[in-house]
Amino acid sequence: MNQKRILLIIGGGIAAYKCLDLVRRLREQGVAVRAVMTRAAAEFITPLSVGTLTNDRVFTDLFDLNDEREIGHIRLSREADLVIVAPATADLLAKMAGGHADDLASTILMATDKPVLVAPAMNPRMWLHPATQRNVKQLQADGVHFVGPNVGEMAERDEAGPGRLAEVPEIIAAAKPLLPSDNIAQTVTHLRAERPLTGRHVLVTSGPTHEPIDPVRYIANRSSGKQGHAIAKAALALGARVTLVTGPVALPDPPGVDTVRVETARQMLGAVRHSLPADIAVFAAAVADWRSATTPGEKIKKTGDRPAIDLVENPDILATVTSLEAERPPLVIGFAAETRDVIGYAKKKLKAKRADWIAANDVSLETDVLGGDSNTVHLVTPGGTESWPQMTKDEVAQRLMLRAAEHLRRTTAAAE
Ligand code: CTP
Repeated sequence: MNQKRILLIIGGGIAAYKCLDLVRRLREQGVAVRAVMTRAAAEFITPLSVGTLTNDRVFTDLFDLNDEREIGHIRLSREADLVIVAPATADLLAKMAGGHADDLASTILMATDKPVLVAPAMNPRMWLHPATQRNVKQLQADGVHFVGPNVGEMAERDEAGPGRLAEVPEIIAAAKPLLPSDNIAQTVTHLRAERPLTGRHVLVTSGPTHEPIDPVRYIANRSSGKQGHAIAKAALALGARVTLVTGPVALPDPPGVDTVRVETARQMLGAVRHSLPADIAVFAAAVADWRSATTPGEKIKKTGDRPAIDLVENPDILATVTSLEAERPPLVIGFAAETRDVIGYAKKKLKAKRADWIAANDVSLETDVLGGDSNTVHLVTPGGTESWPQMTKDEVAQRLMLRAAEHLRRTTAAAE
């Protein structure tokens, strides 16, 4: 297997020190890292410490003629499988969006044909500034991938909000699907080895519900259960005790997961309540919104008339759980399956259902998400929206559970 190579562009910011850990973790996982530092980055960490960890020389400026003679910017980007920019400052994002090339970092970013993953870090007001948001939109449209920023306390006193550099495991998880595929399994194995959900209980709903009209007919949503089952498996692999409450699916019960099979929304709600308390609850089931008000014991026969089905609304399982006093899990994640205005509707659901995060996906027929093996997810949180690249449902599950593990670790540490 070829060793994978990452070119890490380190921007200037207090979070630059986290890059030292990022380099160390990537190298532990067998990835070669070559670093480029902007002039501002060198104000925060030294090229010597970065070079010691990369075990390579550190490249600092385009106008170092020796560098240009020995190894030019084109070669630097050509010799990498992926370019990561971390921390990406507001200024660096602006340069990238505007196509500037006035130092080594921006020149590489202009010259590269490799995937680029950006991990922004800046003051929340700078992140939320319309200029930065405009640049982010432009870069996303240009195909640049983003991880973070996360919401939280800033290095400056009394500053909080979106702007923290994503945590190192999150950056690695985001980099993983962008690397050539033979490295993916290896990276996941290393992340799993840490088992950060050990001691946690994760509750997952999955699949459709079937709401009987009579003994042979039912109302249901389309859902294969693949995404929910993948989440249960990913949580288990990270060390959690997992309860999976699933509607009727053609999938086997995942080994090692406590699986409860139900038919209807009301049974699903009952099984969910019975499984609480949980540290994380993920509502991936496509619950039927309505059920028939009456369910005759006998099959309804054709009579030539148009039969009327009187529909009543089912309980909202997610909203019921978030309104519980003592038993509301510390992290509640909902899904939003939409066919248009995916992020807009997801934001509304986040508020209306009082969830902590909503994983929103486009399920219009042309996307092939329903029943298919891949998914394109936007993670909507109160601090902002992250659009993930298209990945397999297993990869979405792994990334979501890693994010959740990191969130719990941070909130638990903050409470202690
Ligand atoms: N959900 C639930 N119980 C329901 C309906 C939905 O727990 N009765 C959960 C789903 O598991 C998902 C989230 O709520 O996590 C959003 O589901 P979705 O079907 O997209 O939303 P609805 O509330 O049904 O809204 P609408 O159908 O109007 O889009």
